[in-house]
Amino acid sequence: MNGERVAIYPGSFDPITRGHEDIVRRALRFVDRVTVAVAHRRTQAKQGLFEIEERLKLIAEVFADEPRVEIADFDGLLVHFARARNARITIRGLRAISDFEYEFQMALMNRQLWPELETIFLAPDEHYSYLSASLVREIASLGGDVSDFVSVPVLAALHSRFPDTKERT
Ligand code: PNS
Repeated sequence: MNGERVAIYPGSFDPITRGHEDIVRRALRFVDRVTVAVAHRRTQAKQGLFEIEERLKLIAEVFADEPRVEIADFDGLLVHFARARNARITIRGLRAISDFEYEFQMALMNRQLWPELETIFLAPDEHYSYLSASLVREIASLGGDVSDFVSVPVLAALHSRFPDTKERT
């Protein structure tokens, strides 16, 4: 990979929010490329809103202006995916203390599984510190306004899923 610094940003991205976008753009300040990697979740597939293909398409639309972002999906362990791509950095957003325990556990477990992988936590813009994809799904499904929290293509996809979603309340 020509000495390029590549980071993997793994997650569910169901759907991608402005908080995720903020983390990717922050990461691009210190890496050459970011691979946004959508995890398949066989056990949780029925609870998801968007199919993996649709999540990938939305991420591609959101980052259409950013050639340094690539999109992928993976099934199985993150460390296997990262090693196969020779990516030694993984990025995770840390919104609040409540995220910390799970994130710390995951980072150390991933390190145990593949010591070459370093997890870097980034704090999002404070406007997104309370934002989550699950809240976006819930609010949109109940007819609330999520236009501050997702980009235009994602808003359109939510609208087509939930036609009652309001623009403003
Ligand atoms: O957006 P999420 O749901 O918080 O992302 C969690 C994700 C996908 C990053 C995590 O569950 C993951 O890495 N899954 C892949 C399977 C794996 O490697 N599990 C062991 C983690 S220590």
